[in-house]
Amino acid sequence: MNEPPLTSLIEDYRLRVEKALESYLPSVSEPPERLHAAMRYAVLGDGKRVRPLQVYLTGESLGVELSVLDGPACAVEMIHAYSLIHDDLPAMDDDDFRRGKPTLHRAYDEATAILAGDALQVLAFSVLSRPGPGPGDTRSKLAIIQCLADAAGTSGMAGGQVVDIEATGKVLSLGELEQMHLLKTGRLIQACVKMAALCCPGLPAEVARGLAQYGRDIGLAFQIKDDILDVVGDSRTLGKTTGADQALEKATYPGLVGLEAAQNKAADLAGSACAALEPMGSKADRLKELAEYIVSRQS
Ligand code: IPE
Ligand code: IPE
Ligand code: MG
Ligand code: MG
Ligand code: MG
Repeated sequence: MNEPPLTSLIEDYRLRVEKALESYLPSVSEPPERLHAAMRYAVLGDGKRVRPLQVYLTGESLGVELSVLDGPACAVEMIHAYSLIHDDLPAMDDDDFRRGKPTLHRAYDEATAILAGDALQVLAFSVLSRPGPGPGDTRSKLAIIQCLADAAGTSGMAGGQVVDIEATGKVLSLGELEQMHLLKTGRLIQACVKMAALCCPGLPAEVARGLAQYGRDIGLAFQIKDDILDVVGDSRTLGKTTGADQALEKATYPGLVGLEAAQNKAADLAGSACAALEPMGSKADRLKELAEYIVSRQS
């Protein structure tokens, strides 16, 4: 039987996670209505859902049931949405467009945007700690919660965002830039792979190590590609303003090494990510396709 192309899986998993997100997000008919509406505005809509896709494809490659993966997939997308809301605030990147619409603080107001971000962050952990979604055993559940918390915190997204803000207007070394990208974006993407692996107790150590390396490499490649698209991408396709990094004097890969070297670095990382999956044999084919998609995407 022919396998479906990656594009149709991307669509299937997008619909799946959006349905689950819809069910977890608080209703606009319950108070505080405006805050709930703001959370829904930021989460539902035009996201690519790459992080949930990463959770589902990794879990699928390991034989984990999809229903077990819905909780981690939704939780990471909620953390990601919160990070975007705060990233767009005037105190950070001061962006007016996101996912093809006005940013949350533009559509609502700054206080609501800050609070919607806060509420989404804790909702993610509420979802993971509920009895239903995720793996049945408490030990795996706790390990997943810790994995996502670490990836979002000072040694992950929040820590990387601080470096990003402090680096504005400065020239970083290549090592410093790589570290910043690994933290602000890489750790959350790596956590998608790790959370799915944690749903599969008894995973051989070499497979777990390979998946961790794969997650690291595609996480870094994802942010390098984001930097590249800010220079060469189409703002309508991307749903956000392009050229913003240069205007704000952000530290980026194309800014430091040039477009061609940045694209080569992203391609090299996709290659090393795939090589790390060798212990999984053909079970890793989808994950390899995903690595390719991440560095060749146009949005
Ligand atoms: C944008 O992430 C911000 C980064 C961490 C690079 P995405 O490109 O995944 O944004 P959405 O979710 O599709 O809007
Ligand atoms: C990623 O970096 C931001 C987060 C970790 C949320 P960017 O600031 O480059 O993301 P975009 O380009 O605004 O989506
Ligand atoms: Mg930013
Ligand atoms: Mg930004
Ligand atoms: Mg960017």
